[in-house]
Amino acid sequence: MDIHEWEQRHIEAFYNVKETIPYLDGMFVAYNSNIDAIKHFAEADLSKLIGLFKETEIMERIETYPREIKDPIDFMARLLISMREGKAAEIPTYNSDIHEWLKEHLGFDYAHMGGQAGIISNLLSSLRLKKVVVYVPWLSQEQAKYFVDTDNLWHPKVENGKVCLKHPPEAFKPKIESKVNWILEYSKNLNVSCDGKNFKVPRDNRLIISSHPKWLRLDMEREIYEQLNSIFPIDGAMLSGYQLITEKYEDGSTYQDHVARSVQVIEKLKSLNPELRIHVELTSIQNRVIRKAILTEIVAKHVHSLGLDTVEIANALNVLGHEELSYSVIMKEEYGITSIYQGAVQLLKDLSLERVHVHSLGFYICILVKDHPLTLKEHRDFLLFSSTLAAAQAIRGNIGNFMEAEVGLEVPISSDGIEGLENFKIYCVGRKLCTLEEFESGYLYGPDHDAVIIPTKIVNKPKATVGIGDVISAGTFAAMVSKIKQKKIINSLPV
Ligand code: AMP
Ligand code: GLC
Repeated sequence: MDIHEWEQRHIEAFYNVKETIPYLDGMFVAYNSNIDAIKHFAEADLSKLIGLFKETEIMERIETYPREIKDPIDFMARLLISMREGKAAEIPTYNSDIHEWLKEHLGFDYAHMGGQAGIISNLLSSLRLKKVVVYVPWLSQEQAKYFVDTDNLWHPKVENGKVCLKHPPEAFKPKIESKVNWILEYSKNLNVSCDGKNFKVPRDNRLIISSHPKWLRLDMEREIYEQLNSIFPIDGAMLSGYQLITEKYEDGSTYQDHVARSVQVIEKLKSLNPELRIHVELTSIQNRVIRKAILTEIVAKHVHSLGLDTVEIANALNVLGHEELSYSVIMKEEYGITSIYQGAVQLLKDLSLERVHVHSLGFYICILVKDHPLTLKEHRDFLLFSSTLAAAQAIRGNIGNFMEAEVGLEVPISSDGIEGLENFKIYCVGRKLCTLEEFESGYLYGPDHDAVIIPTKIVNKPKATVGIGDVISAGTFAAMVSKIKQKKIINSLPV
């Protein structure tokens, strides 16, 4: 692949998308926002924590692969697993003990907007979409301060039974606590040594300890649901946070109740604008029952678009009964991209989606149904645009406007990404998914789907990795929805 050509394509795509964004009337974003307490690990922090335990105990706990943090050793075990593999994970905790323990023994460097919906709505407002309506069922006064202060960002609020749109600082619910997650960021090459085992961390990544306080409900207030028309006009919805659904609640309700209500919201949104596109952003979901329910009951048949990373692809395939494919995605060897591509195609089919967007370190793939209304070149522009956003986010930790996003254009395309794609090229051309020239453009033509693949920019020493995936998915999806809108407006103009 010609790296210079791809650099040029990044520049063109950035300005193409910048022009189309104003066509979008509005985006709805729900449900999860929280405060992220971010800590960057130094070797000294890690050895101090390890020193608090018997090292054999940590190693034994690693073998049990805890899917929930019940005590500090569960935490240490999942931290070392995440560091050993360089793989992000989000592990729930259902009481505040670990929060107190981390505050006492580690502390954090800074607090930031967290949660996919929080990160996405801040980004889209900063990119000056006409209107962003965010909905967080547990918007506390403190949490509201983490939203950007722009005139285009709104949150629904019930006043005397009527729903009106307010800026987040005027829409919070009084007497609500804030949800705080711990983000443990670590860097490539960090040396880890525990119980005689030594390894180097293979890539920058993080472990998230996600708090699930008892009062947390992924739900929509009845009045807001009934008057959902008050948030319109909107052209797209980006939904996330379903991982916070729990199997059973103290009040006797179950995940099925919350899943059913989530679907009702989606269906109502679509009934209010049949052309509305819905995107679900997936994240690490430890509970397999919930993971399966989200995929088969919320995503399948109800939404158009899915965004996820490679670990999430493997996890999704696993609960959908594709263990072998799931395993080969996780193995990530030379043929890693091939498995990721096959896995994403499988998800498109199994879940009846219009598009599946996978982001990985060095490349993105987007699988599309054959009859998608936009061209592959347009889809390629959306991916390239978000590669620039991701680079800007990695450098700055935050994107406040288009000028700050432009900084991403200066980041070079990853040579590892290009190399990985060269291997994938052999598979694609051999399977007649494309000609060599088509591959150079990033276009694949499968029997029942099309696909776009791009090499991406990578920042060497990112400020933080948390939230970059959300930025990628939000940038691409917003770009796509605005293009659909732009074409509709242009086509309806009198000739
Ligand atoms: P997620 O795991 O969903 O948060 O997504 C993380 C994504 O962010 C990866 O798949 C990469 O595409 C992107 N990313 C991570 N680190 C960097 C970096 N240093 N520079 C640019 N993009 C990055
Ligand atoms: C999840 C986490 C949140 C983090 C976000 C980043 O939503 O719960 O803490 O900010 O992912 O993608």
